[in-house]
Amino acid sequence: MKINKKLNLEKLPTHIAFIIDGNGRWAKKRELPRSMGHKAGMQTVMTTVQHAFDLGIKVVSIYAFSTENWNRPKKEVDYLFELFEQYIKTDMQKLYDQNVKLMVMGDYTKFPKSLADSIAKAIEDTKDHTGPILNLGLNYGSQDEIVRAVNHIIQDGQQSVTKEIFTSYLYTKDLPPLDFIIRTSGELRLSNFMLWQAAYSEFLFPKLHWPDFKEKQLEKALIAFQKRNRRFGAIKESK
Ligand code: IPE
Ligand code: IPE
Ligand code: MG
Repeated sequence: MKINKKLNLEKLPTHIAFIIDGNGRWAKKRELPRSMGHKAGMQTVMTTVQHAFDLGIKVVSIYAFSTENWNRPKKEVDYLFELFEQYIKTDMQKLYDQNVKLMVMGDYTKFPKSLADSIAKAIEDTKDHTGPILNLGLNYGSQDEIVRAVNHIIQDGQQSVTKEIFTSYLYTKDLPPLDFIIRTSGELRLSNFMLWQAAYSEFLFPKLHWPDFKEKQLEKALIAFQKRNRRFGAIKESK
């Protein structure tokens, strides 16, 4: 595949995240059931994540299931669980074979046992992998993550913490800072995603529904990122 010439492979973000949104609307537009949107969406996760790693991005975080998504009809939630299990057990093997390490943020132990077991197994099987990291948000909510961190801090008997110590209690403790968040489908909100980590992230809100966000769109998004001037509070032009 020809890579867009405007993309500078020397200036890629290290850690990007996707809030995958619009699976349902994608399906509705085609008069398909929402489940077909989720199915297409998972295929897009595979192709887009693969392309991100092929380009040289080190960490990709994906918001796949939020703590609020339990509010959806049981049938939809169950279908999502089925899809997750199939992907984590089977389809993602391709990534694991490329030395990709799977990490998960969120309390996946609340999922049905067979799914929770396959997640735990994939994490264990890839824990020593030294390649790119795929970090999945599964039953993830940023507010839950922050409260969980505070509770662990209390249990550890800490009297006060620094930013660095607090960060070390988050699911993302071993990950580099979050450079870039992409939310598809035109919704302009974070929906409880990586609130702490997003402190200095760049944002992009493409109108496309997630199943349509393929390799070319990723390259375009990365080109947009490369045009941003990240100042981090200073006044210097970024290089
Ligand atoms: C994102 O697509 C997938 C998940 C949240 C799991 P949606 O299912 O939210 O799609 P829309 O927003 O209804 O179109
Ligand atoms: C955010 O999408 C959650 C995930 C992508 C997993 P939603 O579609 O659930 O978010 P809201 O409800 O529109 O805020
Ligand atoms: Mg949505």
